[in-house]
Amino acid sequence: MSLNTLEEIAEYIVSDGKGILAADESNPTCGKRFDSIGVESTETNRRDYREMLFRATGMKDNIGGVILFDETIRQNAEDGTPLVDLIKNQGALTGIKVDKGLAPLESSPEETVTQGLDGLDERCKEYVSLGAKFTKWRAVIKISDTIPSDECIEANMRALAKYAKIVQDNNMVPMVEPEVLMDGVHSIERCYAVTSQSLKSLFDCLKDEGVNIAGTILKPNMVTSGSMSESQASVQEVAEMTVKCLNENVPSELPGVTFLSGGQSDVDATAHLDAMNKIGDFSWKLSFSYGRALQQPSLKAWLGKEENVSLAQDALSHRALMNKLAANGAWNPGLEN
Ligand code: 13P
Repeated sequence: MSLNTLEEIAEYIVSDGKGILAADESNPTCGKRFDSIGVESTETNRRDYREMLFRATGMKDNIGGVILFDETIRQNAEDGTPLVDLIKNQGALTGIKVDKGLAPLESSPEETVTQGLDGLDERCKEYVSLGAKFTKWRAVIKISDTIPSDECIEANMRALAKYAKIVQDNNMVPMVEPEVLMDGVHSIERCYAVTSQSLKSLFDCLKDEGVNIAGTILKPNMVTSGSMSESQASVQEVAEMTVKCLNENVPSELPGVTFLSGGQSDVDATAHLDAMNKIGDFSWKLSFSYGRALQQPSLKAWLGKEENVSLAQDALSHRALMNKLAANGAWNPGLEN
């Protein structure tokens, strides 16, 4: 696999309907996932879990990239093979989460701005030496009656653009993730308006900072009803409004849009992606960069037990294949059984 330019790396990750496995949970987040199955979050257990995922046969052909947390990019499998090599042997590229999490926004403390620009250039150089080809930075936008503030959107999109420029100067592809959270009672129309405003601001900032859009991947939320809203939009409405929102705000030279799952069920996340690709009226690849929606069934099957490894791997392989089919608009619910 000789991928030399940013464009080649980005296009490879989303080629043929492939998507991304987001396995970059921080240690506290991984702790929450492990709590749900009664497994202690030790360094070895986290390693065993990720090793199990990265050795699943369904990684091959369905997954073009895996996003790691700092601890994982430095870990070896039980037999001593670097986890990064397991990923490479599956034909996927290694990505790394480079942001440093959220801090309260000065002008509006219930909102956050993502940290991590300090020392980013040095961290990138080390990650390149450890085999990383792409990176992730997540910004969080919350919806209520009174937020998001314009300041929150501007501060987060400016930071995303500065991050993307530093990453590209280090020859890695930046994933830019402006996540409008599903939490809340808001309507799908409100999610549409906030997602539109965020994406517009993001691409203005990226242009302003001189970021090469053809060497960037966008990781957005889908346009959905708030998770606690009484009226939930249908799969077709989510697909139509998401495609419309992207068409209005995302330049055609962007190679790939890979959605986050954001708390959707595994099958919902697949159904939405499939419905969008059946509409098909857009220039970029529309694929997935799911964390929970890819891993949840596998985590539940694993339960931290050696004897469950092969069942857990089958569960990940199944979800990876279902999502690749969805990225080609070739999924249907009957394939789930
Ligand atoms: P979810 O798909 O679980 O939202 O995770 C994706 C991710 O990487 C969030 O930053």
